[in-house]
Amino acid sequence: MDTARIEEVVGDFVHLKKRGTSLIGNCPFHGEKTPSFHVSVTKGIYKCFGCGKGGDSVRFIMDHEKYSYPEALKFLANKYNIEVEETELSPQAAEAQSAKESLYIVSQYAAAFFVKQLWETDEGKGIGLSYFKERGFREDILKKFEVGYSPDVWDAMTQSAINAGHNIEFLEATGLSIKNEKGKIYDRFRGRVMFPIHNFTGRIIGFGGRTLKTDKNVPKYVNSPESEIYHKSNVLYGLFHAKKAIRESDNCYLAEGYADVLSVHQAGIENVVASSGTSLTVEQIKLIGRFTQNVTILFDGDAAGIKASLRGLDMILEEGLNVKIVSFPDGHDPDSYMHHVGAGAFKTYLEQNRKDFILYKANVLLKDAGDDPIKRAGIIRDIVESIAKIPDQIKASVFIRECSSLLEIEERILLTELNKMRSAKSKKTFESNQRASQTNNYAHSSNAPEPLGPPDNLWDDAAGPGETQVQSLAEDHQEREVVRLLLAYGHEFVNWDNIDDMYIGSFIMQNLADVDFENALCKRIVDYYKSEIDNGRLPTANHFIKNEDRDIADLAITLSTSEYALSENWLNKHQIYVKDESMHLKATILGGIFHLKKHKVDKILSNLLKEIKDEKDMDNQMILMQRYGVIKGVEREISKFLGSVIVK
Ligand code: CTP
Ligand code: MN
Repeated sequence: MDTARIEEVVGDFVHLKKRGTSLIGNCPFHGEKTPSFHVSVTKGIYKCFGCGKGGDSVRFIMDHEKYSYPEALKFLANKYNIEVEETELSPQAAEAQSAKESLYIVSQYAAAFFVKQLWETDEGKGIGLSYFKERGFREDILKKFEVGYSPDVWDAMTQSAINAGHNIEFLEATGLSIKNEKGKIYDRFRGRVMFPIHNFTGRIIGFGGRTLKTDKNVPKYVNSPESEIYHKSNVLYGLFHAKKAIRESDNCYLAEGYADVLSVHQAGIENVVASSGTSLTVEQIKLIGRFTQNVTILFDGDAAGIKASLRGLDMILEEGLNVKIVSFPDGHDPDSYMHHVGAGAFKTYLEQNRKDFILYKANVLLKDAGDDPIKRAGIIRDIVESIAKIPDQIKASVFIRECSSLLEIEERILLTELNKMRSAKSKKTFESNQRASQTNNYAHSSNAPEPLGPPDNLWDDAAGPGETQVQSLAEDHQEREVVRLLLAYGHEFVNWDNIDDMYIGSFIMQNLADVDFENALCKRIVDYYKSEIDNGRLPTANHFIKNEDRDIADLAITLSTSEYALSENWLNKHQIYVKDESMHLKATILGGIFHLKKHKVDKILSNLLKEIKDEKDMDNQMILMQRYGVIKGVEREISKFLGSVIVK
């Protein structure tokens, strides 16, 4: 962590300029022309004041490259030539790990073998390369995607691999080599052009091999089987080469085949991937979702096929992604159309023929139904069902409006239909939530499910039914302020009121021992802080800033990077404020503590007041009123204290 200096790690991706105490640049996570992306060299963190993203070096790599935590660590280790020792692995796990590694290695070997065959052998050049050339593929594209050729020989690749010292066991495990009943070993891929499949970090994990024969009895494609390294449902062909462009253009084109990906690339459009024959999976959609929220499907020509696949696309809506469609004329697929019209015209075509999925679907189905009223009614239900899958309500209502005019149906009727579907769905989730919930809240123990409110509330899953106490904004603010003070000043000493051997962190915790935090994240930070102090340790801000838990880290970063701290502009404008805070630490710290206390006491008082009103028994009411008086006294003391000691 010390070696991976934030300015160097970020500097590889963002042009940084010095400004005051920090470095600034254009945020790589959202489009902007005036820089609001700040890097604090001393704190080792970045923070964008435009889109709010922030973190340390590891987080930056995770966010920018869409890596998992261990992937990001390995990336950084590689950058700084630090060897990663996996000491945590058990012997079995280590063996599995190295077996997995061996599968990558033989796959890489095979890919290189096929490439060599394509470019350097007579058979490869005469059959494979000339096939690609005939189809109009450029050499740079073939090289970029590492396509190759497998010779029409029983075991050419296997023999070559064994001669090079590779273990047959691993060749078999990847499916590259097959052993028949007689124990004879042969190549899975023979006499085919080869498309290696990369995972999104660029390692080869499998192959698709296309035959060049026209014989109907020969399967057009032979593919690698599932293996330890190749899980088809998690892989998108071309993603490794597309991810940068996907992020930059904030859109992912989704095609069907290997040839389509290559052709669209050749047209200069690099944000394209393929599901490769299998029907699209949720995992594949989530994979795209790591890079962009916008998917544009490139449909193969024929109408029947399109109609059949429309339903499958609701799944993408359900993941919250925006779906657009481009279809091609005269039975063309993206590949054939690109070669038919040329790169330039193809690009224009994609840009001008993007239709929104829902409207496209409505159009296709309407055309199909003609004037048949029963069919039309079915379509309406079908379309509204798609719209009901969209998690974002505002988006959904826009579609309702557009479909209302397209289907010539009153918006109100569509909305009713939509709400019906949603209620059904919410009811299901509500019931399953109830089943899952262990708490026995009396409000919910009645046997019938509660009447369902308006759909708006049902869709808001933040506040579960029965939660009456909503935390006030002011209280939330006060809790965050206390956490901010802990992080910023916890390690300094209390130097007032004759207390001089105490950390501010301990002082704050002592003074808030009786306060319950409502904000779950603040509570977790405070609880951890307290337990560390109880064990004689003082947590550092870094512990939270670099926390594995993303939510904790996010809050800690937000609280320890303010415009005041990072930007010279703000510093100049607000110099008085900044000086004030650190120079009058006593007022700042006590202010934080007692403002929070006052909020808590006020809350107790207003609850008591309610209880008093509701209480019918006079004696009980008296007791409550006495209690109110005592607490009101506390409140008055706090207010007086805040007024006299704290300069607000
Ligand atoms: N596919 C497959 N097995 C088949 C046919 C197709 O695995 N027998 C998969 C391949 O991943 C292929 C994709 O489905 O890329 C789309 O099929 P198709 O459009 O037929 O293949 P293309 O890649 O477009 O091949 P070509 O244009 O050379 O016919
Ligand atoms: Mn094709």
